[in-house]
Amino acid sequence: MATNIVLKRVTNLFLVLVLATVTYLAKAAELNETQLSLYFQDISAFGNPNATVIPVAGIAGKAWTFTQFGTVFVTDDYITETSDPKSPEVGRAQGMYVTAGLDGLNSHVMISIVFTNKEYNGSTIQIQGVSKQFEAVREVAVVAGTGKFRFARGYATFETYFLDIPAQYSVIRCNVTVQHY
Ligand SMILES: *[C@@H]1O[C@H](CO)[C@@H](O)[C@H](O)[C@H]1NC(C)=O
Ligand SMILES: *[C@@H]1O[C@H](CO)[C@@H](O)[C@H](O)[C@H]1NC(C)=O
Ligand SMILES: *[C@@H]1O[C@H](CO)[C@@H](O)[C@H](O)[C@H]1NC(C)=O
Ligand SMILES: *[C@@H]1O[C@H](CO)[C@@H](O)[C@H](O)[C@H]1NC(C)=O
Repeated sequence: MATNIVLKRVTNLFLVLVLATVTYLAKAAELNETQLSLYFQDISAFGNPNATVIPVAGIAGKAWTFTQFGTVFVTDDYITETSDPKSPEVGRAQGMYVTAGLDGLNSHVMISIVFTNKEYNGSTIQIQGVSKQFEAVREVAVVAGTGKFRFARGYATFETYFLDIPAQYSVIRCNVTVQHY
């Protein structure tokens, strides 16, 4: 008797697994892939009232710079459709960067792309991961999303597209590839 019950339970569990897999496959077939090229208008100049990246915490007695371990930056970059800062607005890149490599090379990035354009207004894409700051192309993970990007997963690359060192102004191209429902 006892063996019968166990067998029945196992069979039921098997059925549940089969059903779950079928549902999963059906959903997976509906996955949609979106690719975007976005341009972040980034001003990191200290003392500039228009700065969009600002160090807010760091190790006491050390300079709070991008290469100093432990420095935390908060950012709110304006995002545009092309590299031209006057081109149509897409949204904002809001979040934090933490210099997380003891050697100052790697930064940990936690950014929400908050869309305000017509197509994706109100939706967000969540980016999180390590950025090898000194590499020409920095790849980070897209871990989630909301609105049109619910269940988003994928990756994003960051490239410095334009750099004005005296003004501490740069345009960063962010290419996003995501799969979502
Ligand atoms: C995929 O996205 C495009 C563009 O947003 C949309 O037109 C299309 O209906 C979507 N496909 C599915 C299967 O959701
Ligand atoms: C980003 O996308 C643009 C096209 O919009 C392409 O020319 C460029 O090579 C891409 N960059 C990377 C690192 O894939
Ligand atoms: C800040 O932005 C305003 C408005 O775009 C501009 O008039 C001003 O010159 C900028 N200030 C600096 C220091 O760049
Ligand atoms: C985006 O949504 C907000 C709030 O619903 C609205 O005020 C705004 O006009 C919308 N923007 C666009 C470009 O549709």
